[in-house]
Amino acid sequence: AAPTRYEAENSPAVCSGTIDSNWSGYSGSGFCNGPNSTGGYAQFTVNASAAGTATLGARFANGTTTARPANLLVNGSTVQTPSFEGTGAWSTWVTKTLSVSVRAGSNTIRLNPTTSAGLANIDYLDL
Ligand code: GCU
Repeated sequence: AAPTRYEAENSPAVCSGTIDSNWSGYSGSGFCNGPNSTGGYAQFTVNASAAGTATLGARFANGTTTARPANLLVNGSTVQTPSFEGTGAWSTWVTKTLSVSVRAGSNTIRLNPTTSAGLANIDYLDL
């Protein structure tokens, strides 16, 4: 089935920073700009039709030349640490495709940055 898109600016998603719209190319009405610290996060609540391995698309931009890795937590447990590498410009958005194990129904997916640079700008998740 086609994935569902979960915009970072739409509740029940939570962005611990600001919802910004100053860099073009984002989907919806903005994107999550987390603080430049390890304490920030972007959290999404997604629905899975069945338990098992799901394909997660995470659209982001990183206008620096330094990766901004983040722990990816599914239902509170870190399952991987994708890198969110530089995309060339803050207005250049890239979708990172990840495989995650989910339960049927509602799941929380959260990105917790692992460096003091914080998160890349996060536009949405597809699942
Ligand atoms: C710049 C940019 C922001 C970005 C920030 C960062 O300020 O305009 O969109 O989030 O850098 O380094 O995180």
